Amino acid sequence: MAQLDKAKMIVDKDFRIAEIDERIYGSFIEHLGRAVYGGIYEPDHPSANENGFRMDVIELVKQLNVPIVRYPGGNMVSAYNWEDGVGPKEERPRRLELAWRTIETNQVGTNEFAQWAKEANSEVMMAVNLGTRGIDAARNLLEYCNHPEGTYYSDLRIKHGYREPHKIKTWCLGNEMDGPWQIGHKTADEYGRLAAETAKAMRLVDPSIELVSCGSSGIQMPTFPEWEAKTLDHTYDYVDFVSLHQYYGNRDSDTANYLARTLDMDHFIKTVISTCDYIQAKKRSKKKINLSFDEWNVWYHSNDQDARLDPWTIAPPQLEDHYNFEDALLVGSMLITLLKHADRVKMACMAQLVNVIAPIMAEQGGSWKQTIFYPYMHASAFGRGVSLQPVVSSPLHDTKDYTDVPYLDSAAVYNEEKEEVTIFALNRHLSESLPLTADVRSFADYRLVEHIVLEHDDLKAVNSLNEEKVKPHGNGSAELKDGIIEAQLSKASWNVIRLAK
Ligand code: AHR
Repeated sequence: MAQLDKAKMIVDKDFRIAEIDERIYGSFIEHLGRAVYGGIYEPDHPSANENGFRMDVIELVKQLNVPIVRYPGGNMVSAYNWEDGVGPKEERPRRLELAWRTIETNQVGTNEFAQWAKEANSEVMMAVNLGTRGIDAARNLLEYCNHPEGTYYSDLRIKHGYREPHKIKTWCLGNEMDGPWQIGHKTADEYGRLAAETAKAMRLVDPSIELVSCGSSGIQMPTFPEWEAKTLDHTYDYVDFVSLHQYYGNRDSDTANYLARTLDMDHFIKTVISTCDYIQAKKRSKKKINLSFDEWNVWYHSNDQDARLDPWTIAPPQLEDHYNFEDALLVGSMLITLLKHADRVKMACMAQLVNVIAPIMAEQGGSWKQTIFYPYMHASAFGRGVSLQPVVSSPLHDTKDYTDVPYLDSAAVYNEEKEEVTIFALNRHLSESLPLTADVRSFADYRLVEHIVLEHDDLKAVNSLNEEKVKPHGNGSAELKDGIIEAQLSKASWNVIRLAK
């Protein structure tokens, strides 16, 4: 095969998309499987601190530098009584957790999670139950969390040992209410009305909060995008964000097609933006609604195993996807897609954080990094600042479901404060390296710091506690001369090319 045509980029400091909201590097902890019990919380583990939190896990969370973590669900929140999870631990009820058909011991609840987030240097994105409950439970929870003192729920929090309010700023109005699997699933009009009235009441309790209206559970939902149009018609004036959720899987083992899935994610984001703006126009509103992509990841490896689990056990190993190298490539491409939309996607949560479809795994013997940990870590570390709009030309290919897929997927970030520029680049070609020329002449006096590469000969290679087969190295080929970067991006690789003054 002849060598691939060159991919070209022009990265100019004046071609700006927007300032990146660091909350796009958020994540998610649900009371599901071993995310909480045996994940972030395991009082008997040798690494646990006085609060029962595993410090080996917190250490890895800090390496990811996760600014915000969604909690407590997910599907679980739609039948959750938050009152079960506060107060003396010995008095907390054990409940049937209906979403995942397990036993919930409630040993971790709102206060413990707020404490954990503090220790992990994160903020909490709290979801309220709009499935089985509604306005009253939501406003009471908000009063419990954010009101300083002198009322029933704020004084109850103080009595429970938390003198200072948690000051939780970001609140999700339910979870995936468009999904028939959701407990208390609603039609768009039913949800829109309830979400609008809940939002109004919550804002009366604390006008400083930001609210997220439930969008679609995926682009494949039959009600998408009508769901967004109808629900936002009700909620537009009272919320700040609409949510998007999307998971992918390489079910038919067609990697080229799998790595092109982000074209569909891009289309999803554009359609939600258009729908928000249509409602804005319809309402003659000055306000723009932003996007919270608050569940995204790869999820499919564990499906068969989960179908065989017995119900009604405590913290079973649910949704424990063991990620391979090609999953890390797709995750990198999903991060690039979020960066390309930094003007409207202001929050995003990799779902989830520990054990459950997660970059971090916690076992008795220690915690370890899945393959997908690395692109997430790179983007969170080097993807802060201004998202630039590179002018890109790339050789193209077709896959089963997509046409004109660029081999090069890329984004560029300019951190003005640190005087650093980072190019994130994925080579989607599975057997050929991709020559890249990047014109960075607008960054005069910048030097090449490093070219990090995540590559592996086996697309199905996985990591484990004992062996980290997939990990990045710093020996990429990029060279910078007279403002032009020349690099060979290895076949099927994730690349981080860093410049600094
Ligand atoms: O993240 C796992 C599940 O995926 C969440 O509980 C739900 O919101 C989504 O369907």
